[in-house]
Amino acid sequence: MILILLGPPGAGKGTQAHRLIERLGIPQLSTGDMLRAAVAAQSEVGKQAKAVMDAGNLVSDDIVNAIVSERIDQPDCANGFILDGYPRTLVQADAVEAMLDAKGLALDHVIEMRVDDDVLVKRVSGRFTCAKCGAVYHDEDRKPKVDGVCDVCQSTEFKRRPDDNAETMRTRLRSYYKDTSPLVGYYHCKGTLRWVDGMQDVDAVTQSIERIVNG
Ligand code: AP5
Ligand code: ZN
Repeated sequence: MILILLGPPGAGKGTQAHRLIERLGIPQLSTGDMLRAAVAAQSEVGKQAKAVMDAGNLVSDDIVNAIVSERIDQPDCANGFILDGYPRTLVQADAVEAMLDAKGLALDHVIEMRVDDDVLVKRVSGRFTCAKCGAVYHDEDRKPKVDGVCDVCQSTEFKRRPDDNAETMRTRLRSYYKDTSPLVGYYHCKGTLRWVDGMQDVDAVTQSIERIVNG
């Protein structure tokens, strides 16, 4: 199963991808997570990406395509994967198609997650994640069941992203509508596009995605 989760910042792509990993038995490939790991490791890619990401702009297609191309060659991707936050431009969409073609593979579903802008800003502003397993939480709506302890891995370390503030969020939303939203039409024409109401609660969104995935 090869799945793309498409949606603006804060739509819930990461939250849902984490839930689908176990249910589908395939890994989540988040270009945002991979780039943040490169920044933390202070690699050459990380050094180039840091300022761009902090400002809420898109990292170059060449860098991101290269990261994904290398990642999908790993053995754990043999049975499929969930692409979270990639592709994000038409150039990236063409690139992933070429990568899959070269392997004799094809996309199963592109799932667009629709959420209103004001809700996106609220979600992103309160977000924090487990530093160990990446589980996603929110200051108001989705706190860990035991305060300060991750529900999933019991870690007590959490982190926040430098780009999760109202000003950077405006840039991220602009870049979504300018560069990424054309992918909705692109995949609609290819017949792979489905959409879910991302305004529902987390469980209901998961169920909507599962209905699509289970055909
Ligand atoms: P990336 O890490 O991909 O961030 P993003 O697309 O901006 O998406 P987010 O991670 O912010 O949101 P999400 O949809 O995963 O929501 P989440 O589940 O966390 O990219 C970061 C940067 O990296 C980019 O700006 C760019 O610079 C660079 N980059 C990455 N990929 C790139 C690419 N392909 N090309 C070029 N540059 C690239 O949920 C958000 C919050 O809402 C959480 O607190 C969560 O608990 C809550 N929540 C989730 N679902 C619900 C719900 N149903 N109801 C209530 N609350 C909910
Ligand atoms: Zn955890």
